[in-house]
Amino acid sequence: MKLRTQAAPDHLHNPVAIVGAGPAGLMLSHLLHLQGVESVVLEKQSRSEVESTVRAGILEQGTIDLLRKTGVGERLDREAEIDEGISVSIAGDSHRIDFAKYTGKQVAVYPQHEVLIDLIAQRLSDDGEIWFNTEVTAIDDHETDNPKVHYQAADGTSGVLSADFVIGADGSKSLTRKLITGAGGLRMKHEYPFAWFGIMVNAPQTAPELIYATHPAGFALISTRSEHVQRYYLQCDPEDTPDMWSDERIWEQLHLRADSDAVTVSEGEITDKAVLCFRSAVTDPMQRGRLFIAGDAAHTVPPTGAKCLNLAMADICALAPRLAHAVKKSDTSALDDYSKLALPRVWKTQHFSSWMSSMLHSVPGADQMSTQFQTNRRLAELSTVVTTDAGRQLLAQQYVGWDFPSIDSF
Ligand code: DHB
Repeated sequence: MKLRTQAAPDHLHNPVAIVGAGPAGLMLSHLLHLQGVESVVLEKQSRSEVESTVRAGILEQGTIDLLRKTGVGERLDREAEIDEGISVSIAGDSHRIDFAKYTGKQVAVYPQHEVLIDLIAQRLSDDGEIWFNTEVTAIDDHETDNPKVHYQAADGTSGVLSADFVIGADGSKSLTRKLITGAGGLRMKHEYPFAWFGIMVNAPQTAPELIYATHPAGFALISTRSEHVQRYYLQCDPEDTPDMWSDERIWEQLHLRADSDAVTVSEGEITDKAVLCFRSAVTDPMQRGRLFIAGDAAHTVPPTGAKCLNLAMADICALAPRLAHAVKKSDTSALDDYSKLALPRVWKTQHFSSWMSSMLHSVPGADQMSTQFQTNRRLAELSTVVTTDAGRQLLAQQYVGWDFPSIDSF
């Protein structure tokens, strides 16, 4: 097994250079390899940082199927919790959304870093090139047939990798995206007046399925990591900092917002506290010349529904077969369709994340009667969704996710 922790100066040209070893970058290099196309992944963080960063944990049916089909689903099948529904709690009144009944599909509770651990192990056992601790500092000539990636490794060495194609999978603070937005590409954005305070807890599971709870005091989400480790979120102000949330305040608010006759939130030692911001953004187009962007580099969704990783995987399913064809046949025509193919799904997912967020969170306003109007309207919408077959089906369909583009044909 070849483990590269930094750039190798002997590798000066590669068919595909991928910036970022997140879900999009690693899955792309894996799918290209399965199609007989090699790539280099450049990642500024160390392998252990990539494998330990806390992120969301829900895999759509399409992501589960993709991991299984491409030989990286074995640990997922052994360890992940498979859920066939969620509960939506409205001030303690619980409504189950039955995914199996409405869609025949499931979701897996399997955190992002576990997916990354599995993909890295697979890439390295396939002799794949991942250059950890290697920051991309600039990209140029991406509007020619021979783009260049300039990089600097943590030990100070630097170099230039030339490639036939460059893929920006470098996350929400993407450097690669700026080459598209700086050349006339659009970046459409939306900010939300709330955020989440996320905690990791050593405690037994509160309930067999996730609980999305709305309450006059704000939203709470009860999720899980394992039998002994739980992941909880509380709606908070975007300006909040972890020191404003004492353990006592956290437990008081979790019980207030998420307890019901049937459920009491389980308590334990809190091992991690962090504020997660709410933001939507979409870049259009997701390509320029021989540069293509995917995942968070191209778009960001608010965390409700945990769509980021799934959207990244769907982008890659659209990109990988077209890119493999372009490399093997020297024919880039199918790649021209990448943005057109990926963006409708991006917008549908933006809509879902934004819709779920707006139905579940309370928004304080200056005018009391106007705030009360908005709250009552929002709760009427949520109630319509969770108490009708049509509403439950609409929510279930979007939660388990839309079909992925085929990786076998285009
Ligand atoms: C988790 C995160 C989410 O945003 C969500 O909607 C469900 C679960 C999680 O981290 O477990």
